[in-house]
Amino acid sequence: MIMTSSAASITLQNLAKSYGRQEVIPPLTAELRSGEFTVILGPSGCGKSTLLMMIAGLERVTGGTILFGDRPVQDLEPRFRGCAMVFQNYALYPHMNVADNIGYSLRIAGVGKAERQRRIADVASMLGLSDQLAKRPGQLSGGQRQRVAIGRAIVREPKVLLFDEPLSNLDAQLRHDMRIELADLHKRIGATSVFVTHDQVEALTLADRIMVLNRGRIEQFDTPQEVYRRPASVFVASFIGAPPMNLVPVEGDGQSLRLANGQELVRCAFSGSALLGVRPEDILLVHEEPASKELVFLLPVRRTEDVGSHRVLSAELAPEVILRIATSQGGRFEATDAVRIALPRDRLHLFASVTGRAIPNAFNN
Ligand SMILES: Nc1ncnc2c1ncn2[C@@H]1O[C@H](COP(=O)(O)OP(=O)(O)O)[C@@H](O)[C@H]1O
Ligand SMILES: [Mg+2]
Repeated sequence: MIMTSSAASITLQNLAKSYGRQEVIPPLTAELRSGEFTVILGPSGCGKSTLLMMIAGLERVTGGTILFGDRPVQDLEPRFRGCAMVFQNYALYPHMNVADNIGYSLRIAGVGKAERQRRIADVASMLGLSDQLAKRPGQLSGGQRQRVAIGRAIVREPKVLLFDEPLSNLDAQLRHDMRIELADLHKRIGATSVFVTHDQVEALTLADRIMVLNRGRIEQFDTPQEVYRRPASVFVASFIGAPPMNLVPVEGDGQSLRLANGQELVRCAFSGSALLGVRPEDILLVHEEPASKELVFLLPVRRTEDVGSHRVLSAELAPEVILRIATSQGGRFEATDAVRIALPRDRLHLFASVTGRAIPNAFNN
């Protein structure tokens, strides 16, 4: 079978990139472990592709170092780095059949015909392309073409495999299927993989760890569970989760968090201005599950959206302060209805207003 033993860790030390005066990546330090699947997640323009291209060697670094294992590679030509990249726009050679497309880089590298055929067959079988080897790209579906592009990248058995939004051009069902295939593929080949996307679902389902990037800075680099359950900043909290986390401006007086109108929301020792965060799916409708010591609020419902598996209520916590509540409970809510809710302490988040950073353990007692 293919590879595994040679996967390399990737260490970024003060890696920086500017275009002229525009600093796209301020000095950034991170360690991507050997064999790990890292997803770089962030909004368009935050520097994801730039970071990936520097790792690939397709873009020069402005400063800092990149290590594969303990080998500095930032000044090496791409072809000497032992990595391969899959792009969103995977340009296959239209006049070559699938086998030749997959094997092209081997031919260029002077790999003999028998060896080449063996490796093409291995890769094709791994990607479900064994029956397609004689076809031209024009005769394939979008998903098959994307698989050929992946085959072309893995056939050289790279230590590092880089993906730049490779699924963005596919339709929803195919994206879903390809996600599952990519996850399986990663388990089998074991290369250190870095996958760039702006799609939180891709990140949450594919990643061993997610690097959340905002304007070239790492907001958080942790497992999908941690990033979702313990977002380190307002940015992470609002970027991950659909519908997004509710963020309510509050003032702490050392005993309670209160709305601007003075209403108490929850007991908490924090003093100062903050944002209280709670995910729509974490808010309790109290006739479903009686809350113990939490305060109960009776809120008018202003809007309901039915999204099939569940429903999203927009309820008014105070004038101009809307809480979105996700519930899988049946029955109809009219716009005039009111809901009784509680905010479970163990699902609340608190972020300092000034820094936007999470205040850890704010609700531990
Ligand atoms: N070749 C370039 N010259 C100048 N600016 C660039 C170049 N490539 C990217 N940028 C800028 O760098 C920033 C990050 O771009 P990019 O890495 O492509 O973001 P992302 O992949 O996250 O959408 C953007 O502001 C973009 O305009
Ligand atoms: Mg990009």
